[in-house]
Amino acid sequence: MIPNLPSAAVLGARAFAALQGLNRFTDEPGKLTRLYLSPAHRQAAEWTKGAMEVAGLSAFIDAAGSVQGRRDGPVPGGPCVIIGSHIDTVKDGGRFDGNLGVVAGILAAQALRDAGIVLPFALEVVAFGDEENVRFPTHLSTSAALAGHYDPDWLDGRDAEGTRLADALVAFGGDPSGIAALARKPGSVKAYLEVHIEQGPVLEVEGEAVGIVTAINAQRRARVRVTGEAGHAGTVPMPLRKDALTASAEMALALESIAAGHEQAVGTVGTFRVDPGAANVVPGAVEFTVDIRSPSNETLASLDLAIRSRFGEIAARRGVSLDIAFYTNALAVPMDPGLQEALAVGAARAGGNLAARRLPSGAAHDAMAMASLCPSAMLFVRNEKGVSHSPLENMTEADAGTAIRVLLEAIVELARRED
Ligand code: GLV
Ligand code: MN
Ligand code: MN
Repeated sequence: MIPNLPSAAVLGARAFAALQGLNRFTDEPGKLTRLYLSPAHRQAAEWTKGAMEVAGLSAFIDAAGSVQGRRDGPVPGGPCVIIGSHIDTVKDGGRFDGNLGVVAGILAAQALRDAGIVLPFALEVVAFGDEENVRFPTHLSTSAALAGHYDPDWLDGRDAEGTRLADALVAFGGDPSGIAALARKPGSVKAYLEVHIEQGPVLEVEGEAVGIVTAINAQRRARVRVTGEAGHAGTVPMPLRKDALTASAEMALALESIAAGHEQAVGTVGTFRVDPGAANVVPGAVEFTVDIRSPSNETLASLDLAIRSRFGEIAARRGVSLDIAFYTNALAVPMDPGLQEALAVGAARAGGNLAARRLPSGAAHDAMAMASLCPSAMLFVRNEKGVSHSPLENMTEADAGTAIRVLLEAIVELARRED
């Protein structure tokens, strides 16, 4: 325990107050919807930059739309530890997913400054903007930019309205031509730490406030287009139809049974767009997304094969054409054992008999992208009923405060290791 750091109770109260400030910015009044590069994302980014400056960091909004804040260590421009998470949300999302981790980083930077703790490395806080990947067909693009593996094809991806990512980025105030320069040099980042709501029920069931992530599950995502034949809903006899919607519905059910057949695997059809989409027209085309995940890369590869084969068989039987475009293929990512240990030391020093339970993550996180650049680790916070990606997402102020206290102790532990 470091005596002049704020208590978990004080940190929790500060975190909830900050979240209230940040979560005023939404694209849909009455809900929390903040999609990458939207007007609400810009407002939230400005708010985050201001909060970083209050915490004593010099801050800017970068070419890809992330907010970066930094306080130098003893060597100007020297190696840093990054605390990060994201401020984009899903549609009608929860208050904590991503936002808590950003607020945690800012409050940790502020607490360290106020306590007069001088670190032997620079401290950075980064608020990424494209973790949810709901607007454009990308995968963790803003953290990939820092990690140095931004895929330039992402800039040509379009949202549901047909807007190109590159154009949305310029309208936001970003700079597509500046993205390559965001890549950090290998060795310039000592560690990446992320605090995040668990998005599952494990910690609550086991009565633990926080948990240390061991690995992030593998994930693939695809856009599927099924093309049949539009026709008059009153005149085309049933045997003559090539209904793209019923074919797609059968594929969605097939995905469900394929995923259910593999232990710990999950499969989701999360969007469905019907063309032309009228009550009196047989659907001519449908576009839907597929999201599959598993702790095992091998399982995911076999799910991918099974999906292609079953969807192909359904399309052939129903006389519709099929196009499956996988745009994400993320392997499972183990978290760094040394940093997991630093978080465990942090939990022990934070007091309160924290068990520092270890658990894998079924959700994707920016730590997945950052792990290719530097040692990375995550601290999960207990999630009421495990509900996330929903306005019902919740946690206690006490748990949020405990997590930030553990984060602070872990940063101090990393500093000690430099001695
Ligand atoms: C992001 O939350 C994801 O896991 O899709
Ligand atoms: Mn998240
Ligand atoms: Mn999320």
